[in-house]
Amino acid sequence: MNKTIFSGVQPSGNLHLGNYLGALKNWVALQNQYRCIFCVVDYHAITLKQDPKVLRSKILEIAKLYLAAGINPETAIIFQQSQVSAHTELAWILNTITKTAELQRMTQFKDKAKENKENINMGLFDYPVLMAADILLYNTDLVPVGDDQSQHVELTRVLARRFNSRFKDVFKLPEVYIQKQGARVMGLDDPRKKMSKSASSEFNYVALLDKPAMARKKIMKAVTDSGSEIKFDLRKKPALANLLAIYSLLANVSVQELEARYNGHGYGELKKDLAEVVAKFLAEFQHRFSGFDDQFINNILEQGRQKASAIAAETLTKVKEAIGVA
Ligand code: TRP
Repeated sequence: MNKTIFSGVQPSGNLHLGNYLGALKNWVALQNQYRCIFCVVDYHAITLKQDPKVLRSKILEIAKLYLAAGINPETAIIFQQSQVSAHTELAWILNTITKTAELQRMTQFKDKAKENKENINMGLFDYPVLMAADILLYNTDLVPVGDDQSQHVELTRVLARRFNSRFKDVFKLPEVYIQKQGARVMGLDDPRKKMSKSASSEFNYVALLDKPAMARKKIMKAVTDSGSEIKFDLRKKPALANLLAIYSLLANVSVQELEARYNGHGYGELKKDLAEVVAKFLAEFQHRFSGFDDQFINNILEQGRQKASAIAAETLTKVKEAIGVA
C-alpha cells in the first residue's frame, strides 16, 4: 500500500512563486508515488476575517491553481475542507485531549495574535487542532509543509500518541516531509525573509496570477547584493542566490550551469533574462488556469468530497467507538 501524503492551502491572499516552487511543484512530483490528498482549508481561512464573496471565489481559485500546477484529479484527491464535516467533529474530540498551554506555545498563534489584536478568536487559538484533525483523519504518513508549519505537525503527533495511549491505537503518527528543492523562496525586496503574500510591499512576491508584465517589473526591481560576479553564495549574496534559485527551478537548469552561462555578465543581464523566464512561465500557467471553468472545478471538488468523506468517516467511526460515544 502506498504511503499517504496530506497537505492544504488556505483560500486567502494570493499564491505566489514561493508557494509554487516550495509546495505545488513538489506535490506534482509526489502524486505518482504516493496516495495524495490536497485540501482547500477554508475553515482555517475564516480564523481571520474574510469577505464571504471573496472567500467563495478564492476556494475555487485554489482548486484551479492546484490543477494548473499539474495536480491530476484522477490520481490525487482534491477537496474542500468544510464539505467533509468529519474535520470539525474530530477537531472537537481532539480539543478534549489538548492542553491550552500547548496551544499557547504555538509560535504562529503568537504571531497572528500580535498582528490581529482586535480579533484573537477561539478559532485562531484552536487552528492547530483542526489541522491535526485534517491530517489524522486520512492515516497520513507524510505532511509536506514549510518549516513554519512543522510545530503544528509536531503537535499532531503529540495528540495522536496521547489519544492512542489513552483510548485505543487508532491514529497513525504522521511525519513532516521536508522538501529539498525550493523549500524557501525568499522575498524579492528582502532576501532575509521568506516570500510572503502578507508582506507589506507587493514587490516582495510574484503572484501566480500577476500579469506577466507586472512580474517582469517585480523581478527587475528585486534587490541585489554588492559586487557584480554571478556566483551562488547564500551568505555573501543572499539576494542573488534567491534569483538564481528561482531561475534554476523555473527553467530546469542547474545553478552551476547558470553561473557558467553568466560568467563575465552582470546582475542586470541575469535579471532581464529571469524576468523573461518568469513571464513565460506565468503566461503558460495562466493559460492552463483560465482553461478550467467553475462548473468543471465544482465537479472535481464533488468527486474529491466523496472520496475524502469515505476515508474520513471510517477513521471518525473508530474514534467515536474508542471514546465510547458510539
Ligand atoms: N496551516 C497550513 C498553512 O497555513 C494549512 C493547513 C491546514 C495544512 N491543514 C493542513 C497543511 C494539514 C498540511 C496539513 O500552511
